[in-house]
Amino acid sequence: MNNSRDVVLSCQALTKAYDEGPEKLTVLSGIEVEIFRGERVAIVGSSGSGKTTLLNMLAGLDKASSGSVAICSHDMATMSDNERGELRNRYLGFVYQFHHLLPEFTALENTAMPLLIRKGTSVAEANKRAEELLIRVGLEQRLHHKPAELSGGERQRVAIARALVTQPALVLMDEPTGNLDIHTAERIHQLMLELAEQVDTAFVVVTHDPDLAGKMSRVLRLVDGQLLED
Ligand SMILES: Nc1ncnc2c1ncn2[C@@H]1O[C@H](COP(=O)(O)OP(=O)(O)O)[C@@H](O)[C@H]1O
Ligand SMILES: [Mg+2]
Repeated sequence: MNNSRDVVLSCQALTKAYDEGPEKLTVLSGIEVEIFRGERVAIVGSSGSGKTTLLNMLAGLDKASSGSVAICSHDMATMSDNERGELRNRYLGFVYQFHHLLPEFTALENTAMPLLIRKGTSVAEANKRAEELLIRVGLEQRLHHKPAELSGGERQRVAIARALVTQPALVLMDEPTGNLDIHTAERIHQLMLELAEQVDTAFVVVTHDPDLAGKMSRVLRLVDGQLLED
């Protein structure tokens, strides 16, 4: 049985409405979800259903209209922006549809970045961990390439290495292969699943790919602002 110690993310009565336009648009209306340590969860739902909005809320990147999100029992609502930033750096990793790598830095430097931002990790130690991760995602020959010198699939591999370099409790992925051809996407899915087997990290992946969703331990569907077990 799971107990509260194993809950890496807890979200209660979360709502989000955008009201800057002429009409109020309610995107999320009462999201309840718990994610457990090491779990692999897919979030599916039609385009515009609010998946990206939800991930941004879960990551504390955007303010909810009401409700609460706690990461490893730390309630984000009461935190300052700085505290939320530190919490994200400590517990979370992210992979987006577009890689969001820094163009002027190499694969190794991009991967080491989350470790360099936090206090207490030396450059040598950060580079060593980054290199280990890049080897695990099959990029030992690309350590010193910049994003523009990498293929789309290679860039996403770097993004995955960067997300895992801090050994986070939870990685949030927003359509991580949505921008890749089918074969490259399939190889990246395989890699993600292999990595997920090897680490204690929970994965929450927004995906349109039924094949990937089917390989996760749980599938949640976002419909009419609510998250339902599929
Ligand atoms: N900053 C914003 N201001 C107003 N409306 C937004 C904003 N961001 C997203 N939306 C709207 O919220 C809905 C959900 O968007 P999104 O979360 O991006 O959906 P998904 O990722 O599932 O495709 C859409 O109707 C979108 O137009
Ligand atoms: Mg989206």
